[in-house]
Amino acid sequence: MKIGHNDGLDGVMAGETVLSHVDGEAGTLIVRGAMIEDLVRHGGLEDVAALLWDGFTADGGDVAAVRRDLGAARQAAFALVPGLLSVAGRLTPIEALRVGLALLPDEDRLPAHVRVCGALPVFLAALLRHGAGDAPVAPDPALGTAADLLRMLRGAPAPQAHARALDVYLATVADHGFNASTFTARVIASTRAGLVSAVIGGLCALKGPLHGGAPGPVLDMLDEIGTIDNIGPWLEQAVVDGSRLMGFGHRIYKVRDPRADVLKQVVRDLGPSSGRLAFAAEVERQALATLRRLKPGRRLDTNVEFYTALALEAVGIPRAAFTPLFGVGRAVGWCAHVFEQERGGRIIRPLSRYVGPVPKQAA
Ligand code: ACO
Repeated sequence: MKIGHNDGLDGVMAGETVLSHVDGEAGTLIVRGAMIEDLVRHGGLEDVAALLWDGFTADGGDVAAVRRDLGAARQAAFALVPGLLSVAGRLTPIEALRVGLALLPDEDRLPAHVRVCGALPVFLAALLRHGAGDAPVAPDPALGTAADLLRMLRGAPAPQAHARALDVYLATVADHGFNASTFTARVIASTRAGLVSAVIGGLCALKGPLHGGAPGPVLDMLDEIGTIDNIGPWLEQAVVDGSRLMGFGHRIYKVRDPRADVLKQVVRDLGPSSGRLAFAAEVERQALATLRRLKPGRRLDTNVEFYTALALEAVGIPRAAFTPLFGVGRAVGWCAHVFEQERGGRIIRPLSRYVGPVPKQAA
């Protein structure tokens, strides 16, 4: 049977946005007029949320209001934790987050985007603790999302350096053009299914190893390589066998992903706890050389996930939480795209070229 070819909409301009711009040739990311490096130099998730939501929601541009509302939403979400844990069963954390969002009650005290972005860190921390046999820890609405998430996860306040590192990570991944999960959220929003449905759809798309599922496997790769001597032979064998080196390659970036450097700096700033940075940097150096040699003309470089893995490991986040944690940051962007899509967009409904069998002509 002939199967239709699908080139992943490569090079297709699917719509306009005021939210972010990825320049794959220059290796730059602009989020609402600011370079990502400048945005996260002092700012964190709440600052990026205020920027992305500005003009779309009542308190959008007000960082203090966003911080206060998200704190209130975390508190409200904590009441739902027992119900979530009772049905989460053996679901992975990201699968359970989808269930958690589906359980959010429809109420108008807090808007849906605030309820969603407040609930995700509370649910994630509770699910991870539950998996380790520990009771959930109630949120502290006075903290920012990153510091509170770490506190809820550990059961004790996190060092300032760890909270800042996580905050930079969440802010760095908050938005990135029409990536697969954001586009999914926009398609759902375009049907007017609502923000919660769109974010659940975003989580579904994020889960895959070609998108948000890569950082855990990056650490698996580093573990498997094990020693400096094994780096070259291991990488060569993997590429010859047709495997993808996790943390490398990107549809849009043909040069280094700027977020990789932001996160590499995060690992450096963590100092002694940065552990295997030197080993990872050597794996990166040899991986790029191997890819250039064995995949000539493909222009493969380091993507955000390589140093994400190192940064999250350095702040003590368990591997199982890497992808759902990405969702905590990216949900801020998904919500902004939902607003934009709902405000200015028609239903997304492209054409498809039929290449299947045609009915026999009647004699
Ligand atoms: N390792 C080895 N080879 C690779 C890699 C890689 N990481 N990435 C792409 N290639 C090769 C492919 O095998 C292909 O070569 P071939 O034509 O000789 O078979 C060529 O490069 C082009 O690959 P495509 O799949 O067409 O590239 P696409 O743009 O569709 O995929 C993607 C982009 C999914 C990110 C890909 O580079 C990949 O699988 N990377 C590894 C997973 C990863 O790190 N994902 C995180 C991405 S960042 C994010 O989503 C937040």
